[in-house]
Amino acid sequence: MICLGASHPKLIPLLAFLIFSCSFPLATSDDTDTDRQALLCFKSQISDPRGALASWSNISINFCNWQGVTCSAQTPLRVMALNLSSQGLGGPVPPCIGNLSTITSLDLSNNTFYGSIPTELGRLSRLQVLSLWNNSLQGNIPSLLGSNPSLVYIDLGANQLTGGIPQFLANSSSLQVLRLMQNSLTGEIPASLGNLSSLTRLSLAINNLVGRIPESLSNIPSLERLILTMNNLSGSVPHSIFNMSSLRFLEMANNSLTAQLPQDIGYRLPNLQSLILSTTQLSGGLPVSLVNASKLEMIYLVSTGLSGVVPSFGSLPNLRELDLSYNHLEAGDWSFLSSLANCTQLTMLFLDGNGMRGSLPRSIGNLSNLLVLSFAQNNLSGHVPDSIGKLSQLNEFYLDGNNFSGSIPRSLGQWRQLEKLNLSHNSFDGSMPSEILNISSLSQSLDLSNNLFTGPIPMEIGRLINLGSISISNNRLTGAIPSTLGKCVLLEVLHMEGNFLTGNIPQSLMNLKSIKEMDFSRNKLSGKIPEFLALLSSLQALNLSFNDFEGPVPSSGIFGNSSRVSLKGNHRLCASTPGLSLPLCPKLESKGRKKYFVLKIAVPIPLSVVVIVLLCLVVILVRRRKEEPSLQHSSMHIEKMTYEDIAKATNGFSPVNLVGLGSFGAVYKGILPFEDDPVAIKVFNLEQYGAPKSFVSECEALRNTRHRNLVKVITLCSTVDPTGSDFKALIFQYMPNGSLETWLHPEDHGHDKKRFLSLGERINIALDIAYALDYLHNQCATPITHCDLKPSNVLLDLEMTAYVSDFGLARFMRNTSTAVPANSTSFANLKGSIGYIPPGKPNYEPILFS
Ligand SMILES: *[C@@H]1O[C@H](CO)[C@@H](O)[C@H](O)[C@H]1NC(C)=O
Ligand SMILES: *[C@@H]1O[C@H](CO)[C@@H](O)[C@H](O)[C@H]1NC(C)=O
Ligand SMILES: *[C@@H]1O[C@H](CO)[C@@H](O)[C@H](O)[C@H]1NC(C)=O
Ligand SMILES: *[C@@H]1O[C@H](CO)[C@@H](O)[C@H](O)[C@H]1NC(C)=O
Ligand SMILES: *[C@@H]1O[C@H](CO)[C@@H](O)[C@H](O)[C@H]1NC(C)=O
Ligand SMILES: *[C@@H]1O[C@H](CO)[C@@H](O)[C@H](O)[C@H]1NC(C)=O
Ligand SMILES: *[C@@H]1O[C@H](CO)[C@@H](O)[C@H](O)[C@H]1NC(C)=O
Ligand SMILES: *[C@@H]1O[C@H](CO)[C@@H](O)[C@H](O)[C@H]1NC(C)=O
Ligand SMILES: *[C@@H]1O[C@H](CO)[C@@H](O)[C@H](O)[C@H]1NC(C)=O
Ligand SMILES: *[C@@H]1O[C@H](CO)[C@@H](O)[C@H](O)[C@H]1NC(C)=O
Ligand SMILES: *[C@@H]1O[C@H](CO)[C@@H](O)[C@H](O)[C@H]1NC(C)=O
Ligand SMILES: *[C@@H]1O[C@H](CO)[C@@H](O)[C@H](O)[C@H]1NC(C)=O
Repeated sequence: MICLGASHPKLIPLLAFLIFSCSFPLATSDDTDTDRQALLCFKSQISDPRGALASWSNISINFCNWQGVTCSAQTPLRVMALNLSSQGLGGPVPPCIGNLSTITSLDLSNNTFYGSIPTELGRLSRLQVLSLWNNSLQGNIPSLLGSNPSLVYIDLGANQLTGGIPQFLANSSSLQVLRLMQNSLTGEIPASLGNLSSLTRLSLAINNLVGRIPESLSNIPSLERLILTMNNLSGSVPHSIFNMSSLRFLEMANNSLTAQLPQDIGYRLPNLQSLILSTTQLSGGLPVSLVNASKLEMIYLVSTGLSGVVPSFGSLPNLRELDLSYNHLEAGDWSFLSSLANCTQLTMLFLDGNGMRGSLPRSIGNLSNLLVLSFAQNNLSGHVPDSIGKLSQLNEFYLDGNNFSGSIPRSLGQWRQLEKLNLSHNSFDGSMPSEILNISSLSQSLDLSNNLFTGPIPMEIGRLINLGSISISNNRLTGAIPSTLGKCVLLEVLHMEGNFLTGNIPQSLMNLKSIKEMDFSRNKLSGKIPEFLALLSSLQALNLSFNDFEGPVPSSGIFGNSSRVSLKGNHRLCASTPGLSLPLCPKLESKGRKKYFVLKIAVPIPLSVVVIVLLCLVVILVRRRKEEPSLQHSSMHIEKMTYEDIAKATNGFSPVNLVGLGSFGAVYKGILPFEDDPVAIKVFNLEQYGAPKSFVSECEALRNTRHRNLVKVITLCSTVDPTGSDFKALIFQYMPNGSLETWLHPEDHGHDKKRFLSLGERINIALDIAYALDYLHNQCATPITHCDLKPSNVLLDLEMTAYVSDFGLARFMRNTSTAVPANSTSFANLKGSIGYIPPGKPNYEPILFS
């Protein structure tokens, strides 16, 4: 944000004039050859990994046409300029450059030259432009440079130069630009710089300069940029500096300076564009006349000890950035804020850390050009006005560390560019606003921590798919961690500590592949610590302390490094390996497994073959999951649901939710707590002959398949209902467009509202089905035959993509030569099935369809 002086647009033509208007003494062809030899010498001593100087080796090209070389217009040809900027060149600058005796411009900027600046450069008495910007040069600035009377432009910035600034003598009176910023220069600013009567730009920022600012600098009649930011300068800024009416950029922030600004500064510095005095102690306050310096664009007066009411800057039409943070300023009647509405260029406003009181006025909504707005660390209170929503361009908004109360205005949801939001350390209450969670541009950070938010974390948190950091810690949030959080796959930092969250850590968080820091401490979370946490390779800090987790702690991954994991205050955890200062887990489990295996060895061989096949399937499934833990399958986590979950999702199996009935069971439309979209829930009527097998068969088929044209199972439920009877249900993606059957024969089923399928749609549907079958038959680890493919088993989503459904009759073709179908006995005599019945399936009295 601190301007270090961009290149002056007027300078280039001026330089060109200077370079090419000079006359030169007659030179002989010997001199010409000296130039060529000097260039060849130069090339031979540097590294040129990109071959930028290839033309320099081509004997059929005259050296005046070599890359970067400019010669005089008349013969004898002499090198006038050498511009090798940004050519990837490196090595020490060869001293033979000092033999290009007629050169007026040398630009080696943006390369990786190192070593010291050769003193031979001082021999180039006609040199006017010297740019060594952005290399890795070390050592001192050769003092000879200070006595070269021709130099107009010197840029040695962005190197590693040390030592002091050389004395520039009156001989350098033509010097206009001196840029030495971003080095490690030490010592004081020489008073002799004040002799540089033509100087317009002096940039010494980001060095280690000490001492006072010499008063002589104010003798420079046309100085436009005085840039001294980030040094170790001290003392008071000479009063005469504020008399330099030519100044456009006055930047001396982050030193240890003091200054007393003249009351009429706005009239004395009428050309001022940038006033950057942060950390300069301004005794005497901020003169009102500053608002008359009408060209001002940037004002940075951070930590300057200012007090009183913030002035109204509405008279500065070009104002772009205003930072008055960390002072003792007051808001007064907030008229300064309304006046800023006049500054139509204003993009950044910072008023942090001023101890301001009162509440934000509605007029804040008029600053609609703002990109960054910060009132952090004040004493502001009351509600945030709704008008804030009008700041629709905001990228960053900070209100942290105040006393704001009430709920967050819903109008925030109108922000479309927001990347960073910090409302932490206030007294905001109410539920966490889902509006904020709809701001999908939020990419950097969202901090709502240390407030009084209550209720559950909205599922919409999964919409923040671009976000890098979330903190909602130290609120009063209840309920479970939404599994939709697993969709925020770019998340690096997650803080949820200090709430009343219950339930497990959702399995979906395994998708957070970039996560570095996770804090779930001080909640009421329970269940096992999920194994996947050990597999998150980027995780560097994990805090699970003071919850109610139980069972064995994983031993690999981050759990292998006890300094990065905190598990304190979970009294039911045990360790499978020593080192985590937890009790060791009892060995019961492995004994049990041995017994189990002993039993299995005794059973007949055919059964053990089946077991082996099943184990292979599990291995394949696990391997596939590891291979593609990708987004679109985030819903494939088989999270077992309870009878109560299903009852709740279907409003107690309400007839209103019923979308189809059949002999194997009923299909309901329902909403699950962890899924955004509605789901179809197929409840099996287990008394029906074949229904239990159908459930098993369908589970097996769907667990082993993943294809974009196969209906996706979200989860399953196999439990007992309150009467103690077995209860089995499968939960699928809901297909809003029903089955293909109802589209093909709408009139048969009274669905005349549906439009006809276009030819294109029909072709796409046919292709989708073909892809699904090809996958089932040829690409599955074990080929599967569907055995019941018909239009009513082809479902359509909103985009009219077709999905093959109903695997109740599916068979695994374990071995193509013997073709032994799984469960062959139970299905041998069945034709047709009662699978997932889509809305409007004809045979079953459609109850709900759109
Ligand atoms: C030398 O330059 C000439 C003229 O530009 C070009 O035709 C020729 O290919 C170059 N030779 C080499 C070896 O690059
Ligand atoms: C050198 O070339 C670069 C890019 O070609 C240009 O931006 C720069 O102004 C040139 N330097 C001089 C001193 O003319
Ligand atoms: C400069 O040129 C002279 C004669 O032309 C030569 O003797 C000398 O070695 C050259 N110096 C460098 C550093 O190349
Ligand atoms: C410095 O030069 C490198 C190329 O060597 C370039 O990529 C980089 O952007 C330059 N930095 C500045 C600040 O000009
Ligand atoms: C150096 O490189 C940077 C980035 O490529 C560019 O913006 C800058 O203009 C270059 N500076 C010079 C002096 O060529
Ligand atoms: C300054 O310039 C004068 C004449 O132009 C010259 O005599 C004198 O030696 C120069 N001084 C230095 C230190 O180069
Ligand atoms: C250069 O500046 C110094 C310090 O300001 C001063 O003493 C000296 O007389 C000046 N020299 C010339 C030639 O102006
Ligand atoms: C700044 O200068 C003071 C003394 O003037 C010294 O104590 C301090 O270390 C310096 N700081 C830096 C960063 O150079
Ligand atoms: C600043 O300029 C005013 C008017 O030109 C003059 O009266 C005053 O003495 C100057 N102040 C300083 C410190 O040079
Ligand atoms: C400059 O000073 C401000 C205010 O003290 C501080 O916030 C900022 O970090 C400093 N900048 C640097 C680069 O030291
Ligand atoms: C200075 O600015 C204020 C506020 O815009 C204005 O009222 C006043 O007339 C200006 N003074 C002069 C001399 O222009
Ligand atoms: C805002 O601009 C209008 C028109 O340019 C001007 O009349 C008014 O005085 C300005 N307000 C402030 C507070 O400067």
